[in-house]
Amino acid sequence: MSIGVLSYPLILLNLKTYEQSTGQKALNFPRVAERVYEKTGINIALAAQALDIQALVDASEIPVFSQHIDPVYPGRNTGHILPEAVAESGCYGTLLNHSEHQIPLDVIKKSIKRAREVDLFTCVCADTIDTAKRIALLNPDVIAIEPSELIGSGISVSKAQPEIVSGAVKGVKSVNSNVTVLCGAGITNGEDASAALDLGARGILVASGVVKSDDPYESLLDLARSMQR
Ligand code: G3P
Repeated sequence: MSIGVLSYPLILLNLKTYEQSTGQKALNFPRVAERVYEKTGINIALAAQALDIQALVDASEIPVFSQHIDPVYPGRNTGHILPEAVAESGCYGTLLNHSEHQIPLDVIKKSIKRAREVDLFTCVCADTIDTAKRIALLNPDVIAIEPSELIGSGISVSKAQPEIVSGAVKGVKSVNSNVTVLCGAGITNGEDASAALDLGARGILVASGVVKSDDPYESLLDLARSMQR
């Protein structure tokens, strides 16, 4: 498995728009991710702000995701994120419908279509099991179940709401067995990450537990070590 190929278990580190992970500071994270991958063999991908994507793609072999794309085509659009531009930057894929950037189901459908047209991998977020099942019908590559009230809370979804993780895995698979399920929200340590895998998730989405940590390398290493099976 080469570092640039997505495999599971996976840690998708969402850099969001934190001060610690924006602009020049964002460049710390490909290096941290490479070191943790080399030490553990656990695959890590980064979700970056649009303006930081190219620098992160150029900085390492770590797969980079856009945090969003818009279902537009090249032409007369203003202020949108063009799928072709994201693909041309060398991005591996894109998040869609994150709790902090929710879009209607019909826009999710159009966005998945646009992503496929330019060979972008899709990780679509869902805040409930029911939403996850509706999104599974749209055939994304991955669905990430993330109850919005736990995001950034440090209260791990795999500990506080294990039933939403196992329920999302079961529900999504009952609708579309091709979709891989990840989970996120409040995951900050190896125990939380290991619990997520025990509940059937194939990986985790994480942000503040690593980005806002005093030592992002040690925090990411702790997560990765717990996911070695
Ligand atoms: O995309 C993952 C993110 O929403 C989880 O946030 O800070 O709870 O790890 P956090």
